[in-house]
Amino acid sequence: MTLGCEAFAKVNRSLAVVGKRPDGYHELDTVFQTIDLSDALVFGPSDGLELACDDPSVPRGDENLVVRAARALAERAGIAPRAAIRLSKRIPAGAGLGGGSSDAASALVGLRALWGLELDDAALADVAAGLGSDVSFFLVGGLARGTGRGERIAPLPDPAREWLVLLSPPFPLPTPAVYSRLRARSLTEVPPPSNLPGSELGVFPDRNDLEPAAESLREEVRLLRELLLGAGAASARLSGSGSTVFGVFSSEEGARDAVRRLSGLPEGTEVRVVPTLGRGEFARRARPRPADER
Ligand code: C5P
Repeated sequence: MTLGCEAFAKVNRSLAVVGKRPDGYHELDTVFQTIDLSDALVFGPSDGLELACDDPSVPRGDENLVVRAARALAERAGIAPRAAIRLSKRIPAGAGLGGGSSDAASALVGLRALWGLELDDAALADVAAGLGSDVSFFLVGGLARGTGRGERIAPLPDPAREWLVLLSPPFPLPTPAVYSRLRARSLTEVPPPSNLPGSELGVFPDRNDLEPAAESLREEVRLLRELLLGAGAASARLSGSGSTVFGVFSSEEGARDAVRRLSGLPEGTEVRVVPTLGRGEFARRARPRPADER
């Protein structure tokens, strides 16, 4: 049996850093949103554990989150990790779009099906949280609030579909580097959000507390936000720890008009126009199914 699924990207519609924890991580209050940009994964039988990827810059050994997900799931189930996994990358890496985390979540769901495991969603979420702070969200999708390291997920009702202009500059921003810049500043400068007012209604603070740290590493981040706001975006934010900046529009036409108006982008910046992806459509398209049916 060979199974295939789509692994979707996310943006952080809101991200508040609430404090620093004794374990070195930061306590977050964030709102994730899946978007219609995806990698593709195919899972098949094998005597060992193999990962093939169409992007030569992606590591294929134990440093790859998909391989770690496969090993962690097999260990949890008490079996040997045997699978041939094929990964087709479309989500840029180091871009704040959660590509590696989403691939890992897809590996958990896909391999649970391939291996016929009885593990329930709570057990899968437990394995996901051990792999990385963003992995748990990709088991849920849609719009969701993340607290703790970002791994405690509460689904929120889908708001109206929005259109995003994604600007991915030609440099990644390593997550630990951005967080360590934040540490250098006094956290008391960051007002705690206490709660996200009205987040149940899809209304949340328009903020990303990682922006000043990211801008101190690469000043282009500020420029990209200014360009999007100048082109008519209702909001323009860094996604996660970057390096992608996204602008929010209520229609596809508005987003495409804005792209036509953009000028002065740093050379090599990738521009994408994508809609947000609600939980129903996410669930349908992220579900593993026989690869020949796709
Ligand atoms: O959990 P994950 O492996 O994605 O985190 C990568 C790095 O990002 C951590 O080692 C830490 O430096 C930083 N981080 C953090 N607080 C979070 C999430 C990530 O400080 N909530």
